[in-house]
Amino acid sequence: MLSLQRNRLPRNLAQKLWHLLPYCVRDRFWIVINRVRFEAGLVWALRRLGWQIVLFQWRARRLARRAGDPWTGAATAPADLEVLLKLARGRKRVVELGTGAGLTTLTLALDDPERRVTTYDPTDWQRERYTRLVPASVRKRVHFVNAPGSTGPVDPNMERVELLYIDSSHEREQTIEEVTTWLPYLVPGAPVIFDDFNEDPPWPGVSDAIRALGLPGEQHASLFVYRHQTNAEADRADFGSRSDFGGPASGN
Ligand SMILES: C[S@@+](CC[C@H](N)C(=O)[O-])C[C@H]1O[C@@H](n2cnc3c(N)ncnc32)[C@H](O)[C@@H]1O
Repeated sequence: MLSLQRNRLPRNLAQKLWHLLPYCVRDRFWIVINRVRFEAGLVWALRRLGWQIVLFQWRARRLARRAGDPWTGAATAPADLEVLLKLARGRKRVVELGTGAGLTTLTLALDDPERRVTTYDPTDWQRERYTRLVPASVRKRVHFVNAPGSTGPVDPNMERVELLYIDSSHEREQTIEEVTTWLPYLVPGAPVIFDDFNEDPPWPGVSDAIRALGLPGEQHASLFVYRHQTNAEADRADFGSRSDFGGPASGN
């Protein structure tokens, strides 16, 4: 009982002192605490991605907040980024549709010193601000194309793409057009990754497009992953699945 009272005494004193502080000081204190909590949460969510990426993402998001830039808020979420980077492992030629402020583009380039990233967006959301946060050796492996994703390769003789990441208009028709444009330029087995995959709103255009194209795949976090098959492979897969219903098991 006595020890309880002893504990309460300093707490009461602290509360009294706290209320003696001007309102603006107390307000500022909570702003700082919430910011630290938010940034610690971001770093924690990104912790498995390597210090270079954590540092870049943290600096870029802080810069965006200070500049009042809304597009970094739409950047790929940490959980999705982790899946994306895992799928990109060992893949050197990556195409992204929907650059935004360039946070995911630059992260993909930072993640592998040999990876080249080509990214499409009809609008330049002041990405120069963020490209300055990475070394020149990273910047030179990124090609920004100011055009819609459905434009296709700028160089038709380009080497085939090893991963396609779609995070653009989220509209059904445009997504279908992007996929049909890019499929012929992908290596067999290349992951085609759709961001914001959801059966419900807010982005029904993405799942509608996947359904309309009849793409098989899996969901990881909020990404839908389809692995590109050549026509022959797709025929074999189809043949194989028919065998589940008593058809021939061999794909020859
Ligand atoms: C969600 S943001 C992309 C965020 C970015 N992937 C990131 O993680 O930082 C969507 C972007 O798609 C762009 N966009 C809209 N229509 C497009 C199209 N047809 N082709 C390519 N990009 C498009 C928008 O300008 C916007 O910058």
